[in-house]
Amino acid sequence: MADPISQSGLWKIQQDYYRELSVAAWDDKTPYYLTNSQVFTDTYADLILAYLQDHPPDLQEPFYLLELGSGTGRFAYQLARDLRRKLQYFPELRPLRFCLVLSDIVRDNLEFWRGHEGLKSLGETIDFSIIEPGREDSMFLEKSGRRLHPGRNPLFVLANYVFDSMPHDEFRFSPQGLEECLIELVPLPNPVHSTPTRQDIRDVEVRRIYAPLSDRYPPPLQAVLDHYKSKLREGSFTIPVAALDCLDRLRKLGELVLLTSDRGFTAPDRMAAYPAHPHSLHAGCFSHMVNFHALSLGFRSALMTRRELLDGVQTCFMGDFVLGPQLRYAFEERFARSNALNHTNEMFAPFRGKTQLRTLIGFLRLNLNDPNALAAVGKQIPQHMHNYSYGERLELMTALEDTWANDFYFRGAPNLTFWLAHIYEHLGLWDRALWFFEKTAERQGADAMLWVFQANCLRHLNLREQAIVRYNRALDLVPGLPEATEGLRSLSAI
Ligand SMILES: C[S@@+](CC[C@H](N)C(=O)[O-])C[C@H]1O[C@@H](n2cnc3c(N)ncnc32)[C@H](O)[C@@H]1O
Repeated sequence: MADPISQSGLWKIQQDYYRELSVAAWDDKTPYYLTNSQVFTDTYADLILAYLQDHPPDLQEPFYLLELGSGTGRFAYQLARDLRRKLQYFPELRPLRFCLVLSDIVRDNLEFWRGHEGLKSLGETIDFSIIEPGREDSMFLEKSGRRLHPGRNPLFVLANYVFDSMPHDEFRFSPQGLEECLIELVPLPNPVHSTPTRQDIRDVEVRRIYAPLSDRYPPPLQAVLDHYKSKLREGSFTIPVAALDCLDRLRKLGELVLLTSDRGFTAPDRMAAYPAHPHSLHAGCFSHMVNFHALSLGFRSALMTRRELLDGVQTCFMGDFVLGPQLRYAFEERFARSNALNHTNEMFAPFRGKTQLRTLIGFLRLNLNDPNALAAVGKQIPQHMHNYSYGERLELMTALEDTWANDFYFRGAPNLTFWLAHIYEHLGLWDRALWFFEKTAERQGADAMLWVFQANCLRHLNLREQAIVRYNRALDLVPGLPEATEGLRSLSAI
């Protein structure tokens, strides 16, 4: 029988995976590096400090940071150390007593943290809790032996690669109206990965069908559904029902702040551009794209990255607070422009002999779209432009235009206009390529090949006569130039 996705057996399969494997889930299986890197926690610590500067906490009370789905505990270990170190720079925040609570649905993970030397060394700065989905408003702190209550300070929630593991629903617009996706889990006849106590997602076929919408949501979720019904006209969207429910429950404890990263969508139009949102498999666990925009609807303020690549992470800072200058500056200026969380991760690829287009885009971003950085990789970019995705194309074009905005010309400057023209040519954006080839000729004087490049663009733009003029100019400078002769021949002009 087919069920709404959030009510299907998919999530038990996921929870059983984490419960049965415990920390062994990270023995080269579950992805973790991006959200546990030093750059990641360092960036998070800076964002948290910026928030605390805008909204000074009550120093008489502990400041609770609750991490949902802590996994191995590495993120929390690093973040606690980063925060402790960085707080020392701010005299007014130095006395802050923060407590970072690691939590998970898996009891064996908690026992792992309890015995871990690194976490032991953090003393009172950390605590542990078990999450029972649907009861997040009643969490017991195992070290201090009391219930989690943030008191007069807000509860600061951290959630990385966890909302993507929690139940969601999916909807699509069809000529018949809005439809809901239902799934049926069909066990494969010869299971390979399952154990006697656990069905593995790889041994199950997930069949998707669509049915007319049923009225089954309680009011807060219905409001999210109504929002997309009124704002979108086509495509598909998801509703992160379990994440929304979890946040609603945590909000019962006090004012909420959320800092979260995951694969996901921060703009509804980008989400709706896809006809469906099936999950992706990572060894025995799976993930789905998180609809961060839906989460942001319930908060007063939200800062969100807008990343086009589907397999990087988006980072969002939301809360029931008024946005202040320190946080806005730290998020937009110090973090989002280079987005080191994602791009330092891309920098591993060359050392594995796997440079890709996204690695080069990452290099540009980490250099804040510096013209010298584009000149350094300008030749390589077209060489890596095979099978690139729609998202990579968008990311590349944004990086190119941002680099152009940083242009400062003098004779010894990098040949930025040429590299931009060269890359736009490979993107098939002939008018933009032509414009940059013309700009290059303006700056350095036209040579025969620059006339040929311009003529090639004009040929693709079906401007035959103008192309012929430029091929002939090339031949005037270098008689018999093969590229120019070939161009004229292709236009049947010789
Ligand atoms: C993909 S791992 C991410 C671990 C860690 N946050 C990281 O970035 O490496 C997902 C974690 O969330 C936990 N988890 C799954 N469902 C959960 C839920 N409903 N509430 C809290 N944690 C959950 C899993 O046990 C697992 O530790």
